[in-house]
Amino acid sequence: MNLDHVASIGDLRVLARQRIPAPVFDWLDGGAFESETLKANVEDFRKLRLRQRVMRDISTRELSTTALGQTLAMPVVISPTGMSGMVPGGDEGELMAARAARAAGVPFTLGMMAIKSIEDLKREQDSFWFQICMLTDRELMRAMVDRARDAGCPVLVLTMTWPLLSQMNRSVRGRHARLPPRYTPGSIMTYARRPRWVLKTLGAMPIRFGNFVPHMAQPEIANIVTMLDASATWKDVEWLRGIWPGKLLVKGVMDPEDAQLAVAAGADGISVSNHGGNMLDASSSTIAALPDVVEAVGDRAEVLLDGGIRSGQDVLKAIALGARACLIGRAHLYGLGAAGEAGVSKALDIIRKELDISAGLSGLSRVSDASPANLC
Ligand SMILES: Cc1cc2nc3c(=O)[nH]c(=O)nc-3n(C[C@H](O)[C@H](O)[C@H](O)COP(=O)(O)O)c2cc1C
Repeated sequence: MNLDHVASIGDLRVLARQRIPAPVFDWLDGGAFESETLKANVEDFRKLRLRQRVMRDISTRELSTTALGQTLAMPVVISPTGMSGMVPGGDEGELMAARAARAAGVPFTLGMMAIKSIEDLKREQDSFWFQICMLTDRELMRAMVDRARDAGCPVLVLTMTWPLLSQMNRSVRGRHARLPPRYTPGSIMTYARRPRWVLKTLGAMPIRFGNFVPHMAQPEIANIVTMLDASATWKDVEWLRGIWPGKLLVKGVMDPEDAQLAVAAGADGISVSNHGGNMLDASSSTIAALPDVVEAVGDRAEVLLDGGIRSGQDVLKAIALGARACLIGRAHLYGLGAAGEAGVSKALDIIRKELDISAGLSGLSRVSDASPANLC
């Protein structure tokens, strides 16, 4: 597909909506309950203004940085988004996104709830990050951590925002059947509007949660969500720290007190995150929460951010307020839904170009030098 006319992440979102079935689009585009926090994540970035500076020799500009011991061509990481394997139709979405990330020189994070497994991705990629949630079955969790270690994952991401299922009102109103799709008499007409997607996906059936296949007879979502450990505490983060030899990024800190507890539990990095507004609706935006977390942590851990990034300007604003890098969820999913691997590459190109131009016009020759002084 020719993506030459695509200028922004918003354009990729429009294309994705045209190409994937409504239940899948609503799932990736919507937020918890009335999506107040999802909207705040995006709008609070928009409210921040960059300070224009001139005559500062910006003839060369450096976008690269380091985060958690990794070199990043720009301060962007692909965030874990479970089931993204099926977003472009079929079951290869995670592989496509990982290839696009590698080509762009940024890390890809494979979700615990991915369609493809750690081993599937390892067969084609040397280095990627892996995300896990606290599970009631600690032996299963330990086995997954060992698999990530054996695959050489340098960074383990612990998602702390998913101890239970939240509700997405948009999917309830759309009467959408559960994902992965089941073609029932009620859903068949909705899916029939996207026949190419359906054909690709039928060819990949059954869609399964690859990381659970070695451990469970029925690796289906209904069985997996019953294993989310709502009783987990910071003691369990210390346990995970003890069994994971690589860097540990804890994802889902919005509060300075939690940030202190995360550091005490041994986290190397913290992602300021509200799970893209998919969990606690009516909570604050990530960019509003960032400065207090940065202050609470100081130089004891690296602070990243995910939630609301839709442009390179947003990345620059987050770096200015103290984030080391940003994880992107929907921005890459829109690309994946629009055009598979080429769409994710396009999303990353868009963000890189916007970041490069915006840094230069802010008077910065190194993006990592951005500070609060770059905001009005
Ligand atoms: C469709 C979808 C699925 C997600 N699945 C996961 C997941 O399995 N694990 C996880 O840690 N975060 C998951 N997230 C959250 C993302 O990693 C990230 O925190 C969020 O998308 C950031 O917000 P943004 O979409 O505004 O960039 C998911 C987000 C979306 C939109």
